[in-house]
Amino acid sequence: MLERRADRLWTYEEPLRFLGFEIGRITTVIRLSSGGLFVQSPAELTPDLRAALSELGEVRFVAPASKLHGHLNMEEYREAFPGVELLAAPGLPARRPDLTFDALLGDTPDPRWSPDVDQVAVMGNRWLTEIAFFHRPSGTVILGDVGYHVGRESPLRTRLMARTMGVYGRVGPTLDFRLTIRNEATFRRSIQSILAWEFDRVIPGHGEVIETGGKRAVIEGFDRLLD
Ligand SMILES: [Fe+2]
Repeated sequence: MLERRADRLWTYEEPLRFLGFEIGRITTVIRLSSGGLFVQSPAELTPDLRAALSELGEVRFVAPASKLHGHLNMEEYREAFPGVELLAAPGLPARRPDLTFDALLGDTPDPRWSPDVDQVAVMGNRWLTEIAFFHRPSGTVILGDVGYHVGRESPLRTRLMARTMGVYGRVGPTLDFRLTIRNEATFRRSIQSILAWEFDRVIPGHGEVIETGGKRAVIEGFDRLLD
C-alpha cells in the first residue's frame, strides 16, 4: 500500500472527497539515517497502514504541511506509536487544542532530521503558512496545498474542478490561495528558497507525483507569482 519512490522514501495516497470531487491526499514517509520514520501529512491510520509503517521502522516524527493540511489523523499516531513526536505548523496549536505538540515547525530543521530533511516556511499568505520539506538523499520536494498537481491521470470531474481552481496541469496553489497572498515579496522569497534545493521529484499535497522534471514544473507552475 505504501509506494516506494526512492531509497528510504515512500508515499501513500488517501482518497479524499473535497467539495464533491475526488482528490487524493498524499502522505510521505521518510526513513531517516538514524532509522526512525518521518511521516508528513499522515493519512488515517488504518490497521493496514499501521502494519506497513511498522515494517519500515519506528515512527518518530509526524508533521503536517499547515494548519489546514495534514493534521487530521495525528492523534491516531500518538496513540499507536508511544515514542512519536507531533510537530505543529504555524497556527495549528490553536486549531487543535486537543493535541499536545512537541515542537513548532519553522524555517530551520531540527538536528534530528536535518541530515536528511530540510524545510522552508512558505510565508506571505494572509491565512496560511505552509511548511515545505526537502528529502535531500532522493532530491524530493514535499508540498501541501501550495503544491496541487492535478493532471491527466485524474478523473474527469476532478480535472474540471481543478481547472476552475486554477490548478489543472500545473504545480501550484489554488486560486483562492493566490488571491490571499498578502506579501508577494515574502512569498516569492519562500518559493525561491524551495527552488534553491537540488530536486527533481515533487510530491504534491494533492494530485499526481512528479517523478522527474520537478524543478522545471515548479518554476512553470509559479511563473506569474515569481515575477
Ligand atoms: Fe490540502
